[in-house]
Amino acid sequence: EMKKILPVQVMEKNYTRLCSTKSIVTVNGKFPGPTLYAREGDNVLVKVVNHVDRNVTIHWHGVRQLLTAWHDGPAYITQCPIRPGGSFVYNFTITGQRGTLLWHAHILWLRATVHGAIVILPELGVPYPFPAPDEESILVLAEWWKSDTEAVINEALKSGQGPNVSDSHTINGYAGGPVSACSSSRKDGFTLVVEQGKTYLLRLVNAALNENLFFKVAGHRLTVVEVDATYVKPFATDTILITPGQTTNVLFSADQGRGGRYLVTASPFSDSPLVAVDNRTATATLQYSNSASTASLTAAALPPQNSTTTASGFLDALRSLNSRAYPARVPAPVDRSLMFTVGLGTNLCASCVNGSRLVAGLNNVTFTMPTTALLQAHYFNVSGVFTDDFPGHPPVAFNYTGSGPNNTQTMNGTRLYRLPYNASVQLVLQDTGIIGTESHPVHLHGHNFFVVGRGTGNYDTTASPPKFNLVDPVERNTMAVPAGGWIAIRFIANNPGVWFLHCHFEVHTTWGLKMAFVVDDGDGPNESLPPPPKDLPSC
Ligand code: C2O
Repeated sequence: EMKKILPVQVMEKNYTRLCSTKSIVTVNGKFPGPTLYAREGDNVLVKVVNHVDRNVTIHWHGVRQLLTAWHDGPAYITQCPIRPGGSFVYNFTITGQRGTLLWHAHILWLRATVHGAIVILPELGVPYPFPAPDEESILVLAEWWKSDTEAVINEALKSGQGPNVSDSHTINGYAGGPVSACSSSRKDGFTLVVEQGKTYLLRLVNAALNENLFFKVAGHRLTVVEVDATYVKPFATDTILITPGQTTNVLFSADQGRGGRYLVTASPFSDSPLVAVDNRTATATLQYSNSASTASLTAAALPPQNSTTTASGFLDALRSLNSRAYPARVPAPVDRSLMFTVGLGTNLCASCVNGSRLVAGLNNVTFTMPTTALLQAHYFNVSGVFTDDFPGHPPVAFNYTGSGPNNTQTMNGTRLYRLPYNASVQLVLQDTGIIGTESHPVHLHGHNFFVVGRGTGNYDTTASPPKFNLVDPVERNTMAVPAGGWIAIRFIANNPGVWFLHCHFEVHTTWGLKMAFVVDDGDGPNESLPPPPKDLPSC
């Protein structure tokens, strides 16, 4: 049978948002990009053709990529970029997953505009484990900069400076709401039309570069049924918390007897004392089909930006479905117990004020991007590209969330942590920082993990583990380490290759908050990484 290859043209396109026009890099001219539809078990082939004047890669965020590490996409981790005029066929099979994920460019800040949803339907004939909705729709949350994002990165790299925040959040590409200060952007809004009495599945994607978001639909309760393409125990809530890289499916009923129009909002959440008040709320409209587009708009109170109560209430309610058909296979016992501090630090920099600059790191290592892909270096045993001595524990124990001692001087390095095939890993991620604490949505490539514990303050090796949930913890691919707190995750290293772990706040990744695991081949059949595809770009 001939396999269908989906064509993806990476191309420039002019877009007008917030009253100004700029050329952005898009997929097929669309912002957000097109949705990739597949079914569990499908072999997906996507030919990415680069028509722009800069390097490109595409990452299939959350797709397991079992034995297909070459097709994961992060630049200089699993592949060299697709150069201007070049192309590459991503070829992977979707195994054991169904739900919503996202794809995005994985080089510098290109994912600001190069991103879209992935919808994985269950295998034919297999129903959802919840009442089937009448309709489905996709809401991609993101950000918009009036200026070029490259300029924003350069600012982020300057001594001790954060980047400019985006000019607006967006829902399906539109800013909407009061931030649209000019008359032409009145129509800058996405409208979801619903029919009285029907139920809807909303597939939410947070593709923003640097923002955790609260999502709400005025007048409607949302029932969460799936996160990061794993089913959860359904629960009803007014507010969804979604960090960059996360996806969430919710059901709701169009049950407002009087019809009308309701405000849909994506507003910032930050539990960091460092983050200023932020009014960038993106809005969309939920409109009943039997109501006029002039019907008055019902709004709901936004959750306060710093509402840790709303956030932790939401996170506490998230549990794996753990049914007979979808059991939660929580790794236990653990044979590798790791702890990484996550945070901001200082780094030597000859040209910087006071000889140091603000950077970020894990266990005081600020990751240096290589100039050739790590996976090739690993597969072909090329020496001198990376070392596999990434520390499994903080260099010294200290009060991570207290005001001192100062243990945040970081060292540069392309240091990886090596895991034997099938290792059962527990990783505690502990937030720390010198200038203040901050939340970090950490994403692991090539594996899902279970979030067995979460807490504020310092992780306690004695008191914390007995409180772990080893029965039905949520399974995901991205989870925020709370500001001044920690999370404990578990996964089985059963996917040979090199797998990126990083903060999904792009600014923190830029500063060095990233590392990679090498997962060795096993001895059995189907336990080793096959050779690279012929068209894999070279550096
Ligand atoms: Cu969605 Cu490494 O990223």
